[in-house]
Amino acid sequence: MSDEASELLELTRALRAHAEWQRATGVMALPRATRADLDARGGPPPEFEPGARGAAARRSDPSPARAAPAPSRAAPGSSHDAPAPSRAAPGSSHVAPAPSRAVAPESYAAEALEQVRAAATRGESMPPDLVSVAPPRVVLPVAERSAALSSLQAEVAACEACGLHATRTQTVFARGQGTVGVCFVGEGPGADEDAQGLPFVGKAGQLLDKMIGAMGLDRDEVYIANIVKCRPPKNRKPEVDEMSACVGYLRRQLDLVQPEVIVALGATAVQGLLGTSQGITRMRGNWKLYEGRIAVMPTFHPAYLLRSPAAKREVWEDLKAVLRHLGRPVPGAKTT
Ligand code: URA
Repeated sequence: MSDEASELLELTRALRAHAEWQRATGVMALPRATRADLDARGGPPPEFEPGARGAAARRSDPSPARAAPAPSRAAPGSSHDAPAPSRAAPGSSHVAPAPSRAVAPESYAAEALEQVRAAATRGESMPPDLVSVAPPRVVLPVAERSAALSSLQAEVAACEACGLHATRTQTVFARGQGTVGVCFVGEGPGADEDAQGLPFVGKAGQLLDKMIGAMGLDRDEVYIANIVKCRPPKNRKPEVDEMSACVGYLRRQLDLVQPEVIVALGATAVQGLLGTSQGITRMRGNWKLYEGRIAVMPTFHPAYLLRSPAAKREVWEDLKAVLRHLGRPVPGAKTT
């Protein structure tokens, strides 16, 4: 068998093992490896380095001076370990680009594979943290993104794709900048939101603002949007056809905003984002991935917390996990 064929076979086996491992453990993400972890293993293989061209390149270039190792997304000093620098340009009405990650797509795959192998060898059933492995999307410059969000908002305002348009006062697009890399996603507008044209401005919204404040964040630093943009009559849950007519707008918003973490508020948000109708009680507190790339923390909807205040304790645990994932300080946590 040629070198290329045996490499392909090994890759196929590793991918199958990866898939089986994920299925067995219910994991939808991968443990993060630090730069030090990778370096201890001698770094990712050269064929996965930016600029390299596979095994042939490695074989034909015995020079030790290979390309610099790709930075791990969780390396000390990366945006995972420290609060991300403000991502919004002064005066911009929308979010600024995420810090660029000059890593070749292949190095994510190599890194992921190594992480999976290492975790499986250690017999770990659930990684302590996760990192998405798909390459980052192309992030538009601030002005372009701002313009794209504004034109998407105008498109939404004219939408008549489902029956909800007939009873709305106005569409409800989003609020906040998303500069800290967090997006909260709710179900759909209620009466207050329908009247004001902004999400989460009623009682549930006031509680959400308190939750955001307790995280040490400003309400305008996060991005807040809903699965559906028009108020369902009598505040009923949106129907499946209404959700599927509308969720594409949210997906486009997320593509533009590029959050590091999405907090899915309640079962409808989880269903719209992840396509699962599992109950929120089972899902909450367990990291998932949106489009295999963005970390999602499912938690209870603030409207539920208004009815069941005892559940605030669990939501607070979920929000602390979000802060840890972002590398931000966790209020009340011991600093040793
Ligand atoms: N509930 C939601 O899910 N979204 C809002 O915007 C308001 C209340």
